[in-house]
Amino acid sequence: MKFFIDTANLNDIKEANDLGILDGVTTNPSLMAKEGITGEQNILNHYVAICNIVDGPVSAEVIATDFEGMVREGELLAALHKNIVVKIPMIPEGIKAIKYFSGKGIKTNCTLIFSAGQALLAAKAGATYISPFLGRLDDVSTNGLELIAQIRTIYDNYTFDTEILAASVRHPMHIIHCAEIGSDVMTGPLSAIKALAKHPLTDLGLQQFLADHAKGNK
Ligand code: G3P
Repeated sequence: MKFFIDTANLNDIKEANDLGILDGVTTNPSLMAKEGITGEQNILNHYVAICNIVDGPVSAEVIATDFEGMVREGELLAALHKNIVVKIPMIPEGIKAIKYFSGKGIKTNCTLIFSAGQALLAAKAGATYISPFLGRLDDVSTNGLELIAQIRTIYDNYTFDTEILAASVRHPMHIIHCAEIGSDVMTGPLSAIKALAKHPLTDLGLQQFLADHAKGNK
């Protein structure tokens, strides 16, 4: 399973990249705003800064909600760097835009996926990735992992090339369950990625090894 980090914070992106396990980055307008990145040129520059840190797909989201606007913005974003993936919302105009970009060989990430039907439509339009929002479904008492599993079955039935990018991942168990289901990618915060490494018995065991080594080498 590929690991993407879901943030626009350059320090977190660097830290995850330095671990050597990072495959890509996803952002969204809320994450950009959280970092105080505003204004078209600053936003574009920030995407380039991210691409200069990570050698992998970087999702950059369009703001327009009409087909022409999405095409205009998406082409501008795609021209920034070879690793940019144009992130497009799951709305009818978005489906048209995904189909358009697919025909041009521009990679897309269809975002705000909350149902299997939406995932099916995005795959038929030729999306490179689809982003089902796991945590946000859990937030409204709906099992987000069941949706990932349902989409996995559908895509495997028809060998769609579209990759399932589990988004809105909140904690390490989400990551583990996504890996069990066979999600192609997961995107989550640095905290969830780092939490995978934690185990009290590892810390205790290491403490003991170091203490025994110190005793033996007195
Ligand atoms: O990037 C989209 C998604 O990952 C958002 O996550 O935590 O805001 O639901 P969250």
